[in-house]
Amino acid sequence: MRIIRAKDYNDMSRKAANIIAAQITLKPDSVIGLATGSTPIGAYKELINKHKEGNLDFSEVRGVNLDEYKGLTKDNDQSYDYFMKDNLYNHVNIKAENCYIPNGMAEDDDEECRRYDELLETLPRDLQLLGLGLNGHIGFNEPSDVFAGGTNLVQLTDSTIEANSRFFESYEATPKFAYTMGIKGIMSARTILLCVSGKSKAQILHDLVNGPITPQVPASILQLHKDVILVADEDALSLM
Ligand code: F6R
Repeated sequence: MRIIRAKDYNDMSRKAANIIAAQITLKPDSVIGLATGSTPIGAYKELINKHKEGNLDFSEVRGVNLDEYKGLTKDNDQSYDYFMKDNLYNHVNIKAENCYIPNGMAEDDDEECRRYDELLETLPRDLQLLGLGLNGHIGFNEPSDVFAGGTNLVQLTDSTIEANSRFFESYEATPKFAYTMGIKGIMSARTILLCVSGKSKAQILHDLVNGPITPQVPASILQLHKDVILVADEDALSLM
């Protein structure tokens, strides 16, 4: 694992965006795995700036998202589909048909998971961007007794629902289930770019890097990946 130290959130965002931009410049039709949440927002802003300045072309890029809440329509402003449009896609020249995300309104869960896994097979990711959950989740693969292989429907843990509830009216209104790319899908990316910011993530980041590989800390499996770039700020690295 290569560790890139950033001063703070803004510095982390700049460094992460530079890595994503380099990937797209070197391979204009890159398949990039994308994440939602607070962590990547700054990097997405940086990518938008690079595009607006004429330095980054998304016309051949394919974006494949990690996860989506079950039960939210695409036009719900809390859906991850909406998030991606709002925070990145609407501001760059990526083609709508090149943006992929699980369908939160799928009728058949198993069928949706199968569909997404087939899609991942046809779109091997050159670079997978990841944030880190407070409990060590990646995508929405929550702590568990086993590593989830393929795309799956997860029941979110209380700590995740609590963390996500900051974007909803209440805990009750916060979705309790989500479709997520599985650990196998995440690990199949050629390069993984893990971004972590803030003191609240320091302990779990320490466990991820130095602790045992265990499904109780799903992100610890990244120790087995050959090409992980961790970009983290001083607060997140404070226990390392
Ligand atoms: C989002 C995702 C999650 C988040 C994680 C951290 O697509 O898959 O794993 O990366 O919950 O969220 P933030 O960045 O809000 O701390």
